[in-house]
Amino acid sequence: MRHPVVMGNWKLNGSKEMVSGLIKGLDAALNGVEGVDVAIAPPVMFLDLAQQLLSKADSKIILGAQNVDLHNSGAFTGDISPEMLKEFGASHIIIGHSERREYHHESDAFVAEKFAFLKENGLTPVLCIGESEAQNEAGETVAVCARQLDAVINTQGVEALNGAIIAYEPIWAIGTGKAATADDAQRIHAAIRAHIAAKSEDVAKNVVIQYGGSVKPENAAAYFAQPDIDGALVGGAALDAESFAAIAKAAAEAKK
Ligand code: 13P
Repeated sequence: MRHPVVMGNWKLNGSKEMVSGLIKGLDAALNGVEGVDVAIAPPVMFLDLAQQLLSKADSKIILGAQNVDLHNSGAFTGDISPEMLKEFGASHIIIGHSERREYHHESDAFVAEKFAFLKENGLTPVLCIGESEAQNEAGETVAVCARQLDAVINTQGVEALNGAIIAYEPIWAIGTGKAATADDAQRIHAAIRAHIAAKSEDVAKNVVIQYGGSVKPENAAAYFAQPDIDGALVGGAALDAESFAAIAKAAAEAKK
């Protein structure tokens, strides 16, 4: 059985005060919640603080980050390495988010290299894939997701997906309030899983595929009721402890 994973992508949001309040609130709200892995990806500036707070509270919340470089040290101004992320307790690292693909021109091949480097360093890649509105309207959703996945599969083998997390995030649904319907998301998740199953049934059966894009407490349960939706990657609603905890609880409840 796949274990659900609900992750909060805080993007470029936060301050020491906000991080402190959010982590304390979240840890309290998740007290006693079992059956779901909950992860947060604050901006790297706050990893130290987050790690200290989580450890002081003996929290089960998993720490993550939103990006990584392709090197562990050297002359790469402004970048952050897997070793550094590990030192601050971050294990689940988001790569290939559409905002990075768009604003930082990250290609499928570049994202795939990051995927390999994370694995090499013992970290868990959270690989974001998903189509634009135009691609969606042109009926290209599955082809786009397959192409983004194949950048990893064709260079590292399908087994590289073992232990990794895939986040299907239709770009048009991110931060827009225009979420995919649960049925549509299920259809795409099933197609993504089938694409992987064509290479390995076993890997396909075990890989966690999250949905992301305007997930809120109000629509979360409908997603998690779908057989191929194994959790969520949450943006806006992850900045509120009660909302994010409610989404995590919905996953725990649905996947019992
Ligand atoms: P929203 O939940 O704000 O739509 O963001 C989704 C996202 O981009 C998570 O990575």
